[in-house]
Amino acid sequence: MDYRKIVSEMISKASDLEIDKIENMIEVPANSELGDYALPCFKLASIYRKAPVLIAQELAGKILPDSHISNIQAVNGYLNFFVNKESFSASVLNEILEKKDRYGDDTVGGEQTVIIESSSPNIAKPFHIGHLCSTIIGQSLYRLYESAGYKVVRINHLGDWGTQFGKLISAYKRWGDDQAIQEEPIKELLRIYVKFHEEAEKNPELEEEARRYFKNLEDGSPEETRLWQWFKDLSLKEFNKLYNRLGVSFDSYNGESFYSDKMDEVVSLLEEKSLLKESDQAKIVDLEPYNMPPCIIVKSDGASIYATRDIAAAIYRKRTYDFYKNIYVVGIPQALHFQQFFKVLELMGCEWSKDCVHVGFAHVRFPDKKLSTRSGNVIYLEDVLDESVNRIKEYMTNTKLDEDMIEPTAEKIGIGAVIFAFLKRSREKEMVFSWEETLNLEGESGPYIHYTYARGLNILRKVEGLEDRPDFSLLKEKVEIAIIQKLSVLQETIAEAISRNEPMVIARYVIELSKLFNSFYNSCKVITEEIKLKTARAKLIEACCIVIKKCLYLLGIETVDAM
Ligand code: ARG
Repeated sequence: MDYRKIVSEMISKASDLEIDKIENMIEVPANSELGDYALPCFKLASIYRKAPVLIAQELAGKILPDSHISNIQAVNGYLNFFVNKESFSASVLNEILEKKDRYGDDTVGGEQTVIIESSSPNIAKPFHIGHLCSTIIGQSLYRLYESAGYKVVRINHLGDWGTQFGKLISAYKRWGDDQAIQEEPIKELLRIYVKFHEEAEKNPELEEEARRYFKNLEDGSPEETRLWQWFKDLSLKEFNKLYNRLGVSFDSYNGESFYSDKMDEVVSLLEEKSLLKESDQAKIVDLEPYNMPPCIIVKSDGASIYATRDIAAAIYRKRTYDFYKNIYVVGIPQALHFQQFFKVLELMGCEWSKDCVHVGFAHVRFPDKKLSTRSGNVIYLEDVLDESVNRIKEYMTNTKLDEDMIEPTAEKIGIGAVIFAFLKRSREKEMVFSWEETLNLEGESGPYIHYTYARGLNILRKVEGLEDRPDFSLLKEKVEIAIIQKLSVLQETIAEAISRNEPMVIARYVIELSKLFNSFYNSCKVITEEIKLKTARAKLIEACCIVIKKCLYLLGIETVDAM
């Protein structure tokens, strides 16, 4: 039930103003004694050329209460609307029970295409925490946009091209050990890559050699291409293990290499528009008028670079998908890169560059030394997930679950805990990862939400003898009303998360709902002799479970039925 719409319709009929316009003016009073919705009439003063107090009074005289709105009052220039609580509870809860996991979904997206680029790790390099962040935020945005009726294309823009592949081929030819690479591809490839840099400091010829190999690769030479493809296949196999664990997949893995033959077009387009300048033998787009450093398009040795591939990719995406929005989930340190190439696209006359959005996120720091001192000073993501799962298993010593359910349950809760910890912060805020916080069963954590959900299901398994038709007017306790209020705003909460590209909005919402649920559970008896009350409360719990599960789904977290 969309009360905002109902209220707006009432006002529209009485005023002849457009519904959409009114809908944007409607507010929710901070103090619920002043009503559930309010129209601040000073916003209409310039239209009617009257005092807000008068406008409010006149409108109040013209609008009659109905089954949804029980009372309308004009107070100090505000037109206040009171929702009929009984019909409100019934309409919210019945809608949830009927729509189940589709509750909260919307059609506003109108099937428009939204591209969400996320994860985008680099071949032959470790999948690091930044990539994890991007993967997790991307997955959540995908589910949010989909729930609002958009068609989402998930792209993994793999870092599989660039001069570093020349270095890697050179390193492999010098120190590569096939068996070690087969066994632990990423670690071994990283080892020889790090070694290349150390050796190149002593022997600058190595750089020259690497450049030659990359040139061969760009020219399609079979030997270099074979090695590159081999590194890529091995890396993807590793990355896919992680994606499987996280329940993530992509519609396209077109990475940087995919655009290697689409770069000449970018250069000619830029030349046509006279945007290219020579600078130290490189070709650049001057962005000084926009207070940005130049965007390098072609390097002095003729090689194309990251930005050029991104420009080619954006053009390709527009042509292929005709996107409504093209979203890049990439760390804040790359913000300037995105500003630069979005600007270049604009200068090229691509008016759709305004639909390209960089969704940045700040660093997550791991103070835990144990995790950060492995080779190359990187944190291996599997280690983080494994540690989380193992710690959860330790907590589960008293569980009543069957032996064979412990492992899969701990896996879901452990991984969910890490995902939740990443998403509950505002994405632009730096975070110091803490196991205490991530796993705290009593706090704002994934396991707390999992626990709340499992607790709800547990009661539902126990209650018996419910009536067919619940009477929701029996839910009169303050906390019950508060829960229903919270449940009623899921759709607008999703809309807010989408407008800010911020999964945190959902994480906060489900934390608040879970807190309310637990305080309800502690203060209201569900299993009682009064069948009518028992029925209404059991159905309230069922509705809560549906919405908690939906929220976790939107965050990319799987629920467990018991723990
Ligand atoms: N592969 C890059 C990295 O690991 C991220 C790619 C971001 N996406 C893009 N279209 N530039 O830093």
